[in-house]
Formats: sequence, structure tokens, C-alpha cells
Amino acid sequence: MRIGGLVSDNPFVLAPMDGYTDAAMRRMCRRAGAGLCVTEMVPAQALVRGARGARALLRISEEDHPLVVQVVGNDPDTMAEAARMAEEAGADAVDVNAGCPSRRVTNGGSGAALLSDLPRLERILRAVRVAIRVPLTLKVRIGPTLDRVVLPDIARMTADCGVDAVTVHARTRAQRFSGRADWTWIARLREWATTPVIGNGDVASAGDALRMMRETGCEGVMAGRAAIGSPWLFAQMLAAWEGRPVPEAPRGPDRAARVLEHFDALVSASDGDERRAARVFRKHLARYVRGLPGALRVRRGLSSLNDRAGLVALLHEVLDG
Ligand SMILES: Cc1cc2nc3c(=O)[nH]c(=O)nc-3n(C[C@H](O)[C@H](O)[C@H](O)COP(=O)(O)O)c2cc1C
Repeated sequence: MRIGGLVSDNPFVLAPMDGYTDAAMRRMCRRAGAGLCVTEMVPAQALVRGARGARALLRISEEDHPLVVQVVGNDPDTMAEAARMAEEAGADAVDVNAGCPSRRVTNGGSGAALLSDLPRLERILRAVRVAIRVPLTLKVRIGPTLDRVVLPDIARMTADCGVDAVTVHARTRAQRFSGRADWTWIARLREWATTPVIGNGDVASAGDALRMMRETGCEGVMAGRAAIGSPWLFAQMLAAWEGRPVPEAPRGPDRAARVLEHFDALVSASDGDERRAARVFRKHLARYVRGLPGALRVRRGLSSLNDRAGLVALLHEVLDG
């Protein structure tokens, strides 16, 4: 897939997920075959102000490429400055978040709230475009509601503002995560837009990914929730796309080894702080063992997971790892 001057080896993109798609999760998904990863949303205002948490999101390692850094905010100048900082930190592209429906974000007029203020979104895109040299991408939903679909405006705006690719999560802001994503909107945006389109919403398997490409003509497929605790989803999508047999999800000790690899990457990204890494890792672990016999026992033990030794003990119980 080509996004401006950025080329990724395959169409499969790890979605931005606040609290999840940190350096460690990105590493796991890349190792499995993700062609492109997007960071968690980086709050522009906090970044520009120099807040430590926001700056930490811009620590990009040499192996973590190609990487899109997503910024969220609603002031054009601040977004432009945040994008410039992201580029300086090593981003291969910058993505503007106009899709997040969380009230924490929309109350400040950011994320999906921008779908109800298209002139402001356009000012943001123009300001960011002139602030960076790397490709600019945009992530949207269909519109605020089904009565107010904005994708035709988005198609025009991306062409006018020099946006290099657009991702659409095929739900409205009002739908949040309910119902099914309606991929027919991805197909319509593919017709209207002149840039590559990355389809998103409810891709949970390799079969889903290929079907989305076939049914919509999208150039890229973005997967989010299904990759949590299943980074091998990317290996499965890639194999299906290349016409190879789709590998099964690893089981038993193989899965335990992947879980430990993820944890170790997180410790390393946390400057060796096992306790901090363990706290962050709890939610990932719950997903790595979901559906397995013994998962309940692991979930009960999550709150006391504080270090690698504790993780090894839990894994031994469910995965014989
Ligand atoms: C926990 C969580 C955090 C998310 N954080 C972001 C975010 O920071 N930026 C963004 O654009 N979308 C965010 N999203 C939305 C996802 O990127 C994606 O659009 C959505 O989950 C639909 O894709 P999926 O069905 O493959 O999960 C988040 C979703 C989840 C579940």
C-alpha cells in the first residue's frame, strides 16, 4: 500500500487504540506481519504544553517503522505544532483523529465532534499539511448520525487539503461501537475519494479482511479490537492475502512464549519497571487467555499480577508455559 511517499509491504494496519497500541503491542503486531501501525491518539494540547505522558507517546524506537502517529485536538495551530513534533520524533506519517466518539474527547470539540464542524476540520488539515513533510492521513467515521453522513465532504476535503489517505470506521459517532459496521460506506468512499482508503470496523479474521477488500475495493484494512491478545491475526491476514494456508492461533507453550515476549517488550519500553509493565499488561493478559479453560482463574489473579514471575506462574496454570 502506498500513502504519499510511504510504502508498506502489505495492506494490513494496526488501528490506533488508546491504552493499548503502545510500543510493545505494535512490536507484537509487526512481528506477526502488520504492514503499518498507528500509535494511540496523542493529545495535541498536552504534547505542545510539554506534558510528560504525551511526550512519552512519541518515544519511537528504530524498529518501530513504518509508524503513523495520530494526533487529536481541535485547534489548528496546536494540531500543526503537535504534528511537527511527531514528525521530528520520527513519525513516518501523521494522522488526524476525527473519529473518536469518547466524551472525554468530543467534549473539547475533538475527535468525532469534528464531523459536526467540517470547516474547523478543514482548517486543521490545512494547518497540519503545511507543518509537516511526511504524509498526512485522516481517520473518520461515517458522520455524526446516519441522517448526516459526511463522507462526500470528507472525500472533497481530503483532495483539497493534500491528505494522502483516509481511514473510515464504518459506524456513525452516535453508534459508538454498537451494531455492525456497514462496509457499504467504505465502498462508497472508495468511489468518491481520490486517495487510498483504509477500511475499518469489525474485521475479526483473515476471512473478514479479504472480504472487506473484495466488497469495498479499499486499499488498506485496519484491525483494532480483534488484535488485542491476538497479534497473530496479522500473520493470518497476511497468509490469506498471499494465498498461503492460514496459520492457527498458537496454543499452549507457544502462546505462553508470545505472551511473555509481549510482556518483556513492555518492560523494556517501561525502562525495566516490571511493576508498571505488569499493571498495564493485565488487560492484555485477560485477552490472551480469553476463551481458554482456566481463563477465569487468570482473570481472578490479574489484580495481583505485579511482575514477570507472577505472569509465568499464571501462564503455567492455563498454558502449561
Ligand atoms: C480501547 C479502544 C481505544 C481506541 N482508541 C482510539 C484512538 O486513540 N484513536 C482512534 O482513532 N480510534 C480509537 N479507537 C477506535 C479504533 O481505532 C477502531 O476504529 C475501532 O475499534 C473499530 O475497529 P475494530 O472493529 O477493528 O476494533 C479505539 C478503540 C478501542 C476499542
